[in-house]
This record gives sequence, C-alpha cells and structure tokens, in this order.
Amino acid sequence: MQSPDASRKVTVAVIPGDGIGTEVMDPTLRILEEVGSRHGLQFAWQHHDWSCEHYTRTGRMMPEDGLDQLAQADQILLGAVGYPGVPDHVSLWGLLIPIRRTFRQYINLRPVKLMPGIESPLRLRDGQDIDFVVVRENNEGEYSEVGGRMYRGTPEEFAVQESVFTRRGVERAARYALELADSRGGGLASATKSNGIVHTMPFWDQVVHETAKDFPGVHVRDYHIDALSALFVLDPGRFDVVVASNLFGDILTDLGAAIIGSIGIAPSGNLNPEGEFPSMFEPVHGSAPDIAGQGIANPLGQIWAASMMLDHLGHERAGAEVLAAVEATLVAGVKTPDLGGTATTTEVADAVLAHLTTGRVDPGAAATPDPEEPTP
Ligand SMILES: NC(=O)c1ccc[n+]([C@@H]2O[C@H](COP(=O)([O-])OP(=O)(O)OC[C@H]3O[C@@H](n4cnc5c(N)ncnc54)[C@H](O)[C@@H]3O)[C@@H](O)[C@H]2O)c1
Repeated sequence: MQSPDASRKVTVAVIPGDGIGTEVMDPTLRILEEVGSRHGLQFAWQHHDWSCEHYTRTGRMMPEDGLDQLAQADQILLGAVGYPGVPDHVSLWGLLIPIRRTFRQYINLRPVKLMPGIESPLRLRDGQDIDFVVVRENNEGEYSEVGGRMYRGTPEEFAVQESVFTRRGVERAARYALELADSRGGGLASATKSNGIVHTMPFWDQVVHETAKDFPGVHVRDYHIDALSALFVLDPGRFDVVVASNLFGDILTDLGAAIIGSIGIAPSGNLNPEGEFPSMFEPVHGSAPDIAGQGIANPLGQIWAASMMLDHLGHERAGAEVLAAVEATLVAGVKTPDLGGTATTTEVADAVLAHLTTGRVDPGAAATPDPEEPTP
C-alpha cells in the first residue's frame, strides 16, 4: 500500500480488451478523473488496444514488449478479453495470466457484498446480509503450464495437467487472508478438498493452519469445496473472509457474483501487495458477446474495480466516495437490464458521476433517455 500524496500523478495502463470491456472503460475513466481532481490525484492514461482483435491482426494478444510497457505504469485497469472464434485459452494465457504472474499479483481479491437497492436471487432470512471477501491465490495452483498430451488422435490419447502448490505461494495467500480477517474482526473459511485430492489439498490445509498460528484471534475453519459452494447459497451470511486456491477461488467468485445480484457489478483486484509491481483491477465479468454493442452493459463492476484501485493507492476516502456513489445510483433505481432496470451503460455511469459532483442522483433524468441524445 502506497501513501497518499498531496498532488500525485498516477500512471495507469488502460486495457479495455474486447466486447463490453470497451464499453465500460471510458465512463470509468471519467469517474476516476472527477474523483481524482478532488483528492489530489492526477491520472496519466496509457491506452493499449490489446485484445482478441489485436490477436487476429497480429497473432499476439499484446506486443512482444507488452509486459515491459506495463512495467512503466503504476497500476493497470483491465476491461475484459475474449471473443468468439479466438479460443479462450489464447486470450487468458496471452494476456491475463502473464500479467498476473510477471507482476507477482499473487492475490486476487473479490468482495462479495450485497449492495443496497439490489435484490439477491437468494431468499435471505430477515437480518441476513451478504458481505464477505474472497481471497483467491492467483499465481499457481491448478492453473499451471505443467503437463501435456500424448498419442494425439489415437484411442490411447491422454492429457496430464499438474497442479503446483508451493509453501511460499500458499503461505502468502493465507497470510494476506488472515490479516484481512483480523482487521475485519471475523473468521477465515479455507476452501479444501483434502478428502479427494490427497497431496496438494492436505498440504494447503497444513500451511494455512501453520500460518494461522501468528493470528490467534482469527478462527480458521476448513470447508470442502462442494459443501462450501452449497453454503454460499444456503447461508452466505456466515462468511467473512474466504481463502481459496486459484481454481476453487475462480469458481466460488462467479457464484459470489451471482448471489449479489449480477456478475455485472462484481469487481476484482489482482494485487501485488508489496507494491513492487503494478497491480491490476478488473471486473469479474467477461466480454459478454451476447450483449456487446447494445450499450446496456452494466458498468458498475468496472467502476467498483476502479474504487478498489483507489484503495490500493492509499486513497481510501476517494475509493469510498466512488462506492457511495455506486450505492446511491442503485438505491435511486438507475440500473441496467441485468439488474432488472432499463438504463443504459451511459446513464448508469452518468448517475454515478452526478452523485460524485452534486451529491444527488436524479433517477428520472437518468432512467429516461434524453431525446436529443443519440442512443448508443
Ligand atoms: N477476465 C476476463 O477478461 C474474462 C472473464 C470471464 C470470461 N471472459 C471471456 O469472456 C467471454 C464471454 O464469457 P462468458 O459468457 O462465459 O462470461 P461473461 O461474464 O462475459 O457473460 C456471462 C453472462 O453475464 C452477462 N454479463 C456479463 N457482464 C455483464 C455486464 N457488465 N452487464 C450485463 N450483463 C453482463 C452476459 O451478458 C452473459 O449473459 C469468453 O471469451 C470468456 O473467455 C473473460
């Protein structure tokens, strides 16, 4: 975490990516500029058109020196990548995973919080709330390059994929999650599957519990991933911080996004907690080809991710202002269709911006398109 400075210039690499990633990025930059101007933060944007479209043109998701270019930035904002016709492993391994690994973004932080003004698809009991954080290990685990295929195209064909769990990798994820649980005054749920996966998962459990000895105030409980997934649906109020391996965390957080109303509002931060390298902030959702180009993508996941970037920069007050504006927008009923509303991407972003500048959201104006304005 870096300390705030009175007039600070922050260089942010901006990668909108594909599909709705390109639609939710511009309004988010406008919001950052507005909040930054009132908190002594000046942004210099480094725009990159790296995407599946870039891949079809050049054969690469990003240029050969892409990571060197990103290393010049303080932080990275990403929209989403993925496009029909380009295999998903190309977009993931050609851009996202190299960034996460090269810059040691070993924590993937994903808040799962039911915002005011949103109804969960779950039937919550009276007084039950959803407000927890998933800490996903982001550099190793099940997403490894170790493995291969043999006897391709024959009846004997097979594939082997090795998981990689290191003491250092598990310990630093566990420590981050334990510190967070300690600061929130809550407990830690650790995702495991030690009954079926008999080498890596007992190792994960062991390292989590060894690390927890430094945090006597945090109660740690292991949950098998299958039972844990069921409890996300049946009793989400019991969780405060959840720590999980790369794959388990990936799956759990899409479920987390679903129970808070829409994947369109869920944010994530790929953190290099020591600040030695840029961290990367992105919404949980993908490029949503089914709605791309219609101007109805929910921008709140991207905007919330930007608020997480402000927190990471040490500007928590600015981050909280953005989040308060998001909440006010939802309470005023300015919502895109994924949340049951009729507002466009621009209208939702404008409502957030209006709250930042005037402290008010005008739901009527925001929900009804101005006839003078061309509809996107
Ligand atoms: N981090 C990333 O860049 C990332 C993450 C997930 C998927 N992807 C890629 O995105 C592409 C599409 O994947 P998918 O369909 O499985 O997941 P997706 O998140 O793109 O879409 C899933 C569903 O949620 C809806 N949705 C998602 N974001 C929304 C938003 N902001 N507002 C309103 N509705 C929204 C979509 O319309 C779709 O019905 C694939 O190529 C995939 O690889 C990329």
